[in-house]
Amino acid sequence: LEAEPAHLLDLAADVAREAGQLAARGQAGIGVLDTKSSPTDVVTEMDRSVEELIRKRLLNARPGDSVLGEEGGTESGSSGVRWIVDPIDGTVNYLYGRDEWAVSIAAESEGEVVAGVVAVPSRDETYTATLGGGAFCSGTPLRARDAVPLEMALVCTGFGYSTERRAYQAEVLRTVLPRVRDIRRGGSAAVDLCSVAHGRADAYYERGLNTWDWSAASLIVREAGVRVGGLRGAPATPDLIIAAVPGLFEELHDLLEPLGADTDGPPHAG
Ligand code: IPD
Repeated sequence: LEAEPAHLLDLAADVAREAGQLAARGQAGIGVLDTKSSPTDVVTEMDRSVEELIRKRLLNARPGDSVLGEEGGTESGSSGVRWIVDPIDGTVNYLYGRDEWAVSIAAESEGEVVAGVVAVPSRDETYTATLGGGAFCSGTPLRARDAVPLEMALVCTGFGYSTERRAYQAEVLRTVLPRVRDIRRGGSAAVDLCSVAHGRADAYYERGLNTWDWSAASLIVREAGVRVGGLRGAPATPDLIIAAVPGLFEELHDLLEPLGADTDGPPHAG
């Protein structure tokens, strides 16, 4: 089977749009089905049905592939292609009838993300990217905003579900907020990252994401000219992801690094 990024992207975009329509139809009247890491980390019936649809469509088209999904875990294949799926990123927004939620599908080939789709059904926007092929929103090429000084930057962030982590995230935010133009907590990491790609925000940082939250969107934002990384030159990890254009990236990094924004408590002196 073809593993060309453009071919994987076409399939992912079709599946993400169909999944987005299914989720959008089911949003009204949705309730909580289950909880995960904490009572506020919820799963709806739609998280599960949408992921099932995505798995079925991807594996029908490409039976040898692997799939990692937020709700259903790993299914292994031997083709060298792995799909990373978040059926609804922004589940709390989805539950409350809010707009910022997305279906996120990334295709990894031999361990590298080569194609990514983030579909935002409420806005009828589909973000797409292939490695080296640029980023698009519903077909229009994306380019991030030019760098601005940190105090002029609109910065998106998000919070984890554990109370211990949140308490320290609030401490970090206490220092960040007076240093920037303003903060947005959109409620979907995938949409936040795409908003930086789109020029609707200048930067984004968050501690504690899972692979499925950011795999597709981090390719999209990088292909729009944004630098994505962690602290001290390391790549982005679940400990911390920072996304901003070069220049602003370094300024935000230098604010977050001494605060220990990649941990759940203050850094130890020395
Ligand atoms: C969450 C969202 C949220 C972010 C959390 C994620 P979910 O994903 O992306 O914006 O702050 O860290 O867990 O649970 O809605 O798929």
